[in-house]
Amino acid sequence: MKKIFYLLLFSTTVWACNSNERISKEVFDDVNRSMEVKKLSESQIIEEAMNWGEEISSEAQTQLIGALQNAIAENGVQEAIRFCHVEALPILSEVSEKYNVAIRRASSDYRNPEDQVRDYEEVILDAYAYNAENGIKNEPNIQKLDNGDVLLFTKAIQIPNSLCLNCHGEPGKDITDETLKVINELYPEDKAKGHKIGDLRGMWSIRLPRAEVIKRL
Ligand code: HEC
Repeated sequence: MKKIFYLLLFSTTVWACNSNERISKEVFDDVNRSMEVKKLSESQIIEEAMNWGEEISSEAQTQLIGALQNAIAENGVQEAIRFCHVEALPILSEVSEKYNVAIRRASSDYRNPEDQVRDYEEVILDAYAYNAENGIKNEPNIQKLDNGDVLLFTKAIQIPNSLCLNCHGEPGKDITDETLKVINELYPEDKAKGHKIGDLRGMWSIRLPRAEVIKRL
């Protein structure tokens, strides 16, 4: 009798396990199926692109400012210019590689000609400049490129404080003669001086592949 009881108990347990497994697999399949047919609205995709762009641009910004502050603390403003000359773009390339997206800073009054604003960025940068000049708050933006296959995230870069003026401010007032010498030597065509706090310096421009944005949802 005891044996039968154990046998029964055993088989019930096995049965219960099996049935649990079956149920959970069904639920699992169901979820999978619903994900496949999940219709993502355009606004969900744009919102995700915005979040991702914010994440990437703030990481890039943190990396650049951290490196810049270290360079100034170690060797002063002049040497920090040499450091930026060599390291700014490679630092951005590293962040680009990490996220597998193209990150750049675009500017119409650029220091490095590589950062010159491109055709597809110009209208957006103009709008940021208009806002900055007229005291209107700039908000990040998503623009569709390449028939919507690319979502371009942009975010204005305005001069937040006097640190930047050491190298982007008024020569003779904010920029010392020694610093100016290095700028002129490394960037003979420099357009990135004469700024004050609040001025637009450029914008983040990050090309997010739409397919990669959808994968994140
Ligand atoms: C030590 C000098 C120095 C300081 C301080 C500095 N910058 Fe720059 N900045 C540079 C140099 C040099 C470049 C060009 C880098 C390159 O060759 O890629 C540059 C480039 C840029 C660019 C890319 C567009 C362009 O003109 O090529 C932006 C945007 C920018 N700086 C914003 C800022 C902001 C905002 C601050 C303050 C938080 C700041 N910079 C502080 C030296 C400086």
